[in-house]
Amino acid sequence: MQGVRFDPWNPDFVAHPYDAYAELRRAAPVSYFEPTGQWLIPRYADVNALLRDRRLGRSYLHVATHEEFGRAAEPDFQEPFWRVVRAGMLDVEPPVHTRLRRLVSRAFTPRMVESLRPRVRAIAAGLVDTFVEKGGGDLIAEVAEPLPVTVIADMLGVPEADRPLLRPWSADICGMYELNPSPEAQHTAVRAADEFAGYLRELARERAARPGDDLISALARIDELTEDELVGTCVLLLNAGHEATVNVTGNGWWSLFRNPAELARLRADRSLLPTAVEELMRWDTPLQMFERWVLEDIEVHGTRIPRGTEVALLFGSANRDPEVFADPDRLDVGRADNPHISFGAGIHFCLGAPLARIELIESFGALLDRADRLELVREPEWKPGYVIRGLHSLDLAVS
Ligand code: HEM
Repeated sequence: MQGVRFDPWNPDFVAHPYDAYAELRRAAPVSYFEPTGQWLIPRYADVNALLRDRRLGRSYLHVATHEEFGRAAEPDFQEPFWRVVRAGMLDVEPPVHTRLRRLVSRAFTPRMVESLRPRVRAIAAGLVDTFVEKGGGDLIAEVAEPLPVTVIADMLGVPEADRPLLRPWSADICGMYELNPSPEAQHTAVRAADEFAGYLRELARERAARPGDDLISALARIDELTEDELVGTCVLLLNAGHEATVNVTGNGWWSLFRNPAELARLRADRSLLPTAVEELMRWDTPLQMFERWVLEDIEVHGTRIPRGTEVALLFGSANRDPEVFADPDRLDVGRADNPHISFGAGIHFCLGAPLARIELIESFGALLDRADRLELVREPEWKPGYVIRGLHSLDLAVS
């Protein structure tokens, strides 16, 4: 690790992590990062393989107790947070994961999701029309956030009046996913998880009594699903269902502004939208890192990584690996061969990927269609988060 500038708490690193990633990839396939006690994995082939390796897991609690794993039990005050998070499919492993994913995936088949496209297009058009009429503003607050929040809240059947609650709850919960979160961030995340769960528990009971044509009502009818699992699933869908999409929109437009020839190319040929969206997700992924627990000793390129430790899979680095992507630091909106890792791999592969793709294609397309001139008003700032990486705001002037 000597000389490598992996420094996820440093705003300069968060803004420009890619040179440090290149050094990490060149230096070694595995390196130990003392401040978090994790093994960093920077190369694509290893990230991809470890995501699919069943000797690792998002949790270890299906095979061992905290004590057996040499870990301190979580402090009592965090109980409401873990109760919600561990009831959703992302933080459980088979067989529970298999059951939960099967029950929920019915709502996310490519056919089901494709049927949402006209509605997604209409929402994107409405938001962009307002944005253009007033000559621009903050693209994140006015377009990037409301589009996926509206879509996922519609799907689940969250009443319109309650939707302003969703963004703050989600943002506060996400604070816990950063590396070594501060005590304040932990308390904020716990409070948000508890309030969010309480709200959804109430809503699910109402829907069980008076079902509507929405996903919460459909989930409330499933006997196999406990109330905690239902609540955990809905929190997960509402959070995962917008957080990353917001950041791909912001990061993606910022990438295009830094690569004006590629923006001009996309503007001239809208048929490039599907490859452009994939490329924007590769070039500056909103989810820079995912962790996995090592459930049985593994060896990665000769380094033994023992049971009970954690690996940090560097998605942002994997997506720039020259072994897989030709000229990886170049943004190429027409890139055809693009197996980026931004939606993950293996059993936890993003359930919402088809929906995210539709939302992104429709929102980038709506803005290109409706605004002949888009100008950056000021250079945007990154939020402090490294794991979930996005811009505070993106101020644009439009005509
Ligand atoms: C561009 C936007 C998105 C990105 C980059 C993204 C990325 C990811 C990634 C990397 C994972 C796997 C995490 C891991 O393996 O540890 C994941 C899981 C998941 N995502 Fe997404 N996601 C996006 C949008 C969405 C949307 C729109 C939804 C839902 C409507 C969604 C729902 C989920 C769910 C439910 C899981 C858990 C799947 C499981 O554990 O089996 N995501 N996502």
